[in-house]
Amino acid sequence: MAAPPKTIHTAPPMKPKSKSAKLRVGIIGLGMGRAHLESYQKHPRATVVAIADTNPATLAAVGEKYGVAARYTDAATMLAAEQLDVVSVATPNAYHKPLTIAALRAGCHVLCEKPMAMSAAEAREMLAAAKAARRRIMINFSYRFTPQSQALRAEVDKGILGDVYFARTVWLRRKGMPGFGGWFGQKALAGGGPLIDLGVHRIDLALWLMGYPKPRWVLASQYNHIAAPLARKEKKVFDVEDFAAALVKFENGATLEVEASWAGHIQQRELMETRLLGTKAGLVQHNTNGGYEFDATIFTERRGKEMDLKPAVPKKLMPSAQHHFVESILHNRPHMATGEEGLIVMQLLDAIYASAASGEPVRID
Ligand SMILES: NC(=O)c1ccc[n+]([C@@H]2O[C@H](COP(=O)([O-])OP(=O)(O)OC[C@H]3O[C@@H](n4cnc5c(N)ncnc54)[C@H](O)[C@@H]3O)[C@@H](O)[C@H]2O)c1
Repeated sequence: MAAPPKTIHTAPPMKPKSKSAKLRVGIIGLGMGRAHLESYQKHPRATVVAIADTNPATLAAVGEKYGVAARYTDAATMLAAEQLDVVSVATPNAYHKPLTIAALRAGCHVLCEKPMAMSAAEAREMLAAAKAARRRIMINFSYRFTPQSQALRAEVDKGILGDVYFARTVWLRRKGMPGFGGWFGQKALAGGGPLIDLGVHRIDLALWLMGYPKPRWVLASQYNHIAAPLARKEKKVFDVEDFAAALVKFENGATLEVEASWAGHIQQRELMETRLLGTKAGLVQHNTNGGYEFDATIFTERRGKEMDLKPAVPKKLMPSAQHHFVESILHNRPHMATGEEGLIVMQLLDAIYASAASGEPVRID
């Protein structure tokens, strides 16, 4: 395998802060944004001082529940008024780019939800804005922060796998579509279906464990045989795929197979699984009992004998992306899940959708 990845990092200048000063955090979008809020509040040196959501009822309910007094239906007004250090963007995907750029220009470091954007072109604009503002962008690839992911990564960093030549990464639901009529099923707001929604997490996890090799070729397919007829019956817009699959070839010769579905005739209600095959060992990380708990195993041989190993969970766990982001800013250290990695994922997603549409392989340069 390639050497473990260097964290690609947009270096920010740190505002001088006293040792006890708290970072002022704002959250935009209060669906998944509530999980961001809870995670920041657990860090002793972060405080969520303002929230924004276009839905006044959501804004009021979340503000009351978490005791956040500064509430805005317009994110731009919040950014102008609140002198924030950190902003989480957790809105529908179509707004990630404009809100992230607005927050960067207001001097904030941004933790943006996955997918980073609607396209690689948008992701590039976001990175340029971060560079110009000298602020950070982190992408909430939250599944890196499970104990099993961290345990595996620690083993991979020690070189246990040898050279990784193949990976398979899937997030498959038998029938787990978002409600029809919402933004998730609309290409103009979401950018795509389960691939950009669920697959994006598993793609990042596989790439992260593989050392973020450079993708070169993609051959992909997408289908919509189950969800589309159901949405038509309800007379709701659903113009994204319900299943996508892709084969990715990397510059270093490795291959990645990707599958993502909201609907498909499979055994499991919900299956998340990432496998890597290396010259010295292989690994698997998967969910257990169709839920959101995970298990991880490494498969290898010692003196010709097959061995299955449970990777040790590191003593110093990173509890969440929010905790990690705050720590990285406070201690002026590189953060994980950088905007540059988010861009590589967006390049892959663009190529997968383009290949699925054309029926031809797509080259990434
Ligand atoms: N990392 C994860 O595990 C994870 C999990 C779920 C969702 N997400 C991501 O989080 C984002 C939001 O998804 P969700 O499930 O919370 O959606 P949601 O529809 O439940 O919530 C989105 C919220 O954003 C608000 N909103 C919409 N436009 C806005 C704007 N311009 N300014 C401020 N608020 C606005 C809506 O009123 C709503 O309250 C998506 O990008 C999704 O992919 C990530």
